[in-house]
Amino acid sequence: MDGVLRKERERTLTETSQRTFAFLKPDTVKNHLVGEVLHRLEKKGFTFKQLKLHQITHKEAESLYNVHKGKPFFQELVDHVTSGPVVLMVLQGPNVVETLRKFIGATNPLTAEPGTIRGDLSVSITANVIHASDSVENAKMESSIFSLDTS
Ligand code: CMP
Repeated sequence: MDGVLRKERERTLTETSQRTFAFLKPDTVKNHLVGEVLHRLEKKGFTFKQLKLHQITHKEAESLYNVHKGKPFFQELVDHVTSGPVVLMVLQGPNVVETLRKFIGATNPLTAEPGTIRGDLSVSITANVIHASDSVENAKMESSIFSLDTS
C-alpha cells in the first residue's frame, strides 16, 4: 500500500474508532476458554481498554438484562451470569459495536456461523460465551452498572 492510501486508511480507522462493553460469561471461565477468546479478540485487532474479573450480583444482572424482564428465559439468564466469575471488558476499535457483534456470532449456537466465537465455542443459548452491547448508548449504560466507562 502506498503512503497516501496508508494515511487515508489510518484516518478512516481513527475517525470510526469507538468503545464498547462486553463480558465473558461464567461458562467461558469454567470451561477455561478465557485465553482463547481474548486471543481471538486481540488477533482481530480490538484493543482492551479495561479488563476485570468480577462476580456479578443479582442486582447487577437484573439491571443489565432489565430489557428481558418477564421473558421466559430471564431467570435462567440471571442465574447463569451470577453462577461464577465473569470477565468484564471495555474494547476499542473501528466501529467496534457492530464489528464485535458480528465477530461474536448469533445468540443461538445452532445458528451461529462457524468461525464466530459463539459458533465455535458456545454450549447453549444461555451459556453462549460472551455478551456484547448492541449500541453505543447501551454500552455506556451497561458498563456504568460495573463502574466502567466506554466514553
Ligand atoms: P446476551 O447477548 O447476553 O443477551 C441476552 C441473553 O439472553 C442472550 O445473550 C442469551 O444468552 C439469553 N437468552 C436465552 N434465551 C434466549 C432467547 N430465546 N432469545 C434471546 N436470548 C436468549
